[in-house]
Amino acid sequence: MRKKITVVGAGHVGEVTAFKIAEKELGDVILLDVIEDMPIGKGLDMREGGPVGKFDSAIMGTNSFADTANSDIVVITAGKPRKPGMSRDELLDANVNIVRPVTQEIIKHSPNAMLLIVTNPLDAMVYTAFKVSGFPKNRVFGMAGILDTTRFRAFISMELNVSVESIQALVLGGHGDTMVPIARYTTVAGIPLSHFLRPDRIDAIIERTRKGGGEIVKYLKTGSAYYAPSLAVAEMVESIVKDKKKILPCAAYLEGEYGIEGLYFGVPIKLGTNGVEEIIEIDLTSEEKEAIKKSEAAVRDVVDLLKL
Ligand code: NAI
Ligand code: 2OP
Repeated sequence: MRKKITVVGAGHVGEVTAFKIAEKELGDVILLDVIEDMPIGKGLDMREGGPVGKFDSAIMGTNSFADTANSDIVVITAGKPRKPGMSRDELLDANVNIVRPVTQEIIKHSPNAMLLIVTNPLDAMVYTAFKVSGFPKNRVFGMAGILDTTRFRAFISMELNVSVESIQALVLGGHGDTMVPIARYTTVAGIPLSHFLRPDRIDAIIERTRKGGGEIVKYLKTGSAYYAPSLAVAEMVESIVKDKKKILPCAAYLEGEYGIEGLYFGVPIKLGTNGVEEIIEIDLTSEEKEAIKKSEAAVRDVVDLLKL
């Protein structure tokens, strides 16, 4: 039987995510938004593309949570994006008041779903969905690390003029300017990055990666990135639906791993049919541990502001 995948929020990220999921035939898709009729139009437009796009996934837009009933996976993208000059954390008050009621509605209709959160500030919004849903931690997680890592990989490929497919990289930590790209675990066809680039170039690419979201916002002016984010979400959905058990950097609930207690944070996980099936702890240098501590503090500062 086909999986049922709901995408809440039919804005930039939601619509591209829904379309990628349908194109890859990962399941049937429900696209929900509060804006009257808009998701119905978008869903119909996508569905009409099936014959020429060669996909049989059924896509339906809706304004009603009843239509999301018995979803296997629910992707939450509902919420405000940032504008130039804003940090992701400045979205906290507005978006907690969206993610909280959305989660409450979703769990009423889909008590067994997995919740994949995208809304910013990411780590705090996944924490919100986790606490509000009461779901086990393996069924609630967030997308950010794949996006940060794909940016890192793209910048390396642009610098070296090699295929993006040859580059493996890892970005840990919270989804903010304190994220921790780990150059030591970054390779080009298995060859350490340091073989190809001088330390000053690696540092420059790391800095660009950290500010990658802001760079796009500066150009778009009215919102934030959505193509790379949507591809990142689709990769997570695929790993779950096909039980691929990919190792991906995602926001997972930590209970002592990396020395972090009771917080969602970006770490490598094994993602499969049971959601977060394993959290992978890797060895870090003292400098990397220091960067993780700084990132943890930044995430905790925001989570501490939540009144759930
Ligand atoms: P957008 O403004 O294009 O779309 C958001 C949509 O959410 C709108 O259509 C709005 O009507 C809808 N919405 C608001 N309240 C709702 C509710 N209660 N129920 C259903 N829908 C509701 O924004 P965009 O660009 O799609 O971004 C969405 C969120 O994702 C933002 O918070 C953004 O910061 C975040 N984001 C996070 C990324 C990550 O790496 N975790 C990457 C990209 C975006
Ligand atoms: C980004 O990094 C919006 O958080 C999102 O582009």
